[in-house]
Amino acid sequence: PRQIIIDTDPGQDDAVAILLALASPDEIEVLGITCVAGNVPLDLTARNARIVCELANRTDIGVFAGCDRPLGRDLVTAEHVHGKTGLDGPDLPDPQMPLQEAHAVDFIIDTLRSAPEKSVTLCPLGPLTNIATAFEKAPDIVGRVQEIVLMGGGYFEGGNITPAAEFNIYVDPQAADIVFRSGVPLVVMPLDVTHKALVTKPRNDAFRALNSKVGVAVAQMTDFFERFDKEKYGSEGAPLHDPCVTAYLLNPDLFTGRHINVEIETRSDLTLGMTVADWWRVTDRAPNALFMGDIDADGFFDLLTERLGRL
Ligand code: BDR
Ligand code: CA
Repeated sequence: PRQIIIDTDPGQDDAVAILLALASPDEIEVLGITCVAGNVPLDLTARNARIVCELANRTDIGVFAGCDRPLGRDLVTAEHVHGKTGLDGPDLPDPQMPLQEAHAVDFIIDTLRSAPEKSVTLCPLGPLTNIATAFEKAPDIVGRVQEIVLMGGGYFEGGNITPAAEFNIYVDPQAADIVFRSGVPLVVMPLDVTHKALVTKPRNDAFRALNSKVGVAVAQMTDFFERFDKEKYGSEGAPLHDPCVTAYLLNPDLFTGRHINVEIETRSDLTLGMTVADWWRVTDRAPNALFMGDIDADGFFDLLTERLGRL
């Protein structure tokens, strides 16, 4: 199996992304889950990640707390989307499994140093603060990363927290800039893709019909999570942003995109955190990312539902 570290700020859609990975041990080995401040503050994301591991009966997974604020600005959170806890919807018990003592950044550094070169993939599902901090603290690990598959940004879809910026990039544009310039091969799942991965009513019914603890919890999470997008954008259902990352590891053919240059706006007030994607290749800036543009949504939901049924 492919060895990954999930870096996350759960978040209902983060939770589903984690569950999809944990449901797929033949293809994915989760070396650890590192938490970052994003959708809600760090204490809550570190709590929610453990709740999700316990839901999947995977108390063996190490969960690490990382950076509690972006590199150069105040934390922006998204309770308006995810609720007060970050994981509103299902009524899940407080986690019993402990948080690991090591800092998430040190776990990332140590794991990359001790694993064979280019054998570990990083899967960021939140602001890129932990990853950028690890790269700054230990530049020797950058060349050791196999690939980074992340959720963030938007091009044709614009932004979801400002007209120009997607939440994960907007929260810590400086960190995103470090990651996008790092030279590590990047696969990016922007809003252009994730706004097509919508939990319509029949898809939500299919989760519930799994009739398992996980299936019902995921249906309840997406029930809660869709309120925001339905009311705000008239969307058909909850966009499953982050699970696109783990689905890509299982079946990259579900996605199509372009290998292009993507840079992060870090200075402008108006467009801070924008992913400036050279989709039409109008510059000679070197490609640094496989920037996805489309998804086979039915194939994605078939895969997700089938895998969740294994938990
Ligand atoms: C991203 O922001 C968060 O609210 C979601 O968990 C996802 O990672 C979407 O913009
Ligand atoms: Ca997230």
